[in-house]
Amino acid sequence: MTEREVVPVRPDFSAADIGTILGSIRTALETGQLAQGEEVAAFEREMAAYTGARHAVALASGTAALVCGLRALAERGIGEVLVPANSFYSTAAAPLLAGLRTRLVDVEAKTFAPSVETLERAVTKDTVGVLVVHMGGLITPELRAIADWCEARGLWLFEDCAHAHGSRLDGVHAGNFGVAGAFSFFATKVLTCAEGGMLTTDDDELAAAIGLYRNLGKTEAWRSHHTVLGENARMSELHAAVGRAQLRRLDEFLDVRQRLADRYTAGLSRLPGLTPVLPSHTPASWYKYAVLLEPAVDRAALKAALKEAGVRLGGEIYEMPLDAQPVFADRIPRDTRHPVSEDVCARHICLPLHTRMTEDDVDFVVTALEKNLT
Ligand SMILES: Cc1ncc(COP(=O)(O)O)c(C=O)c1O
Repeated sequence: MTEREVVPVRPDFSAADIGTILGSIRTALETGQLAQGEEVAAFEREMAAYTGARHAVALASGTAALVCGLRALAERGIGEVLVPANSFYSTAAAPLLAGLRTRLVDVEAKTFAPSVETLERAVTKDTVGVLVVHMGGLITPELRAIADWCEARGLWLFEDCAHAHGSRLDGVHAGNFGVAGAFSFFATKVLTCAEGGMLTTDDDELAAAIGLYRNLGKTEAWRSHHTVLGENARMSELHAAVGRAQLRRLDEFLDVRQRLADRYTAGLSRLPGLTPVLPSHTPASWYKYAVLLEPAVDRAALKAALKEAGVRLGGEIYEMPLDAQPVFADRIPRDTRHPVSEDVCARHICLPLHTRMTEDDVDFVVTALEKNLT
């Protein structure tokens, strides 16, 4: 065991950020405005301005953003939602929680996202929409084509942007290609407020409906008059204060992540047995630096050896396809296999990547990989 350790993720709060956040939290505590106040409203305005969306609605989590968004979309029609088989639990659970149905589709190994062709094969007369996920921050270059395909078919496109803060394709921020985008601000994310989420949309009616669903179906913030079956999915003023400080630094975070990712890409090019999964666009959030291993490489053994060498890898995106999760056993149709999702889930790893890392840390990881792959 070495003394040195490179950890997979670490939030970044400078002394100045901590001062700003504590100042805002002090104000909230002193005034007693802990919820539904100016911090949340300002965070929403700033996130809308940053992403270029007309509306940004703050929520308690990324899952809440998906569920409330889908509850509002379910008002436009109940049916099946196409979801990539390699995603996180919430992407597949959210349609079910919102009274819709989930059908899994396979992805491409190069983009970790479905192609138009795959969606075309999966669509049925019951399909109402498509959820795409920008895995690790990668926006598939086919996204515009997917959006056009959805429009031609009368389906909505909803982007799970939990990994994609700052990712832009042809200058357009993730979350603006379809009807809405759902962001997560969980503690491991590129932009965090510990727990939180945001839904972005240009659709005025959808934004208003999500405002209702997040606040117990109330038509007015402080009045007990309930019109839809909502939940409490609100973000607190304290969380918004943290999120605002992070958003101010997002561009700086993206620059550091890009520099570290470039160093990985250069260092890994001389190594056998692996292929990095790279975005075709800049900026990318670089939430994860994913690497596909040759089938012969034993992932568990490699991870254990790297840990021994002082390199702790983060979670995969994801370790197994969603249909292998027990919860979905009798909730999601199992009439099709998803061979590419099965393959990429089984044989990729995600290298440590966060803004507290140095280029020397990247070299340390590459050297550890080199020793264990050759
Ligand atoms: C792809 C994806 N979707 C949705 C979520 C849900 O976000 P949260 O943990 O904020 O509920 C996550 C979070 O971890 C995620 O990775």
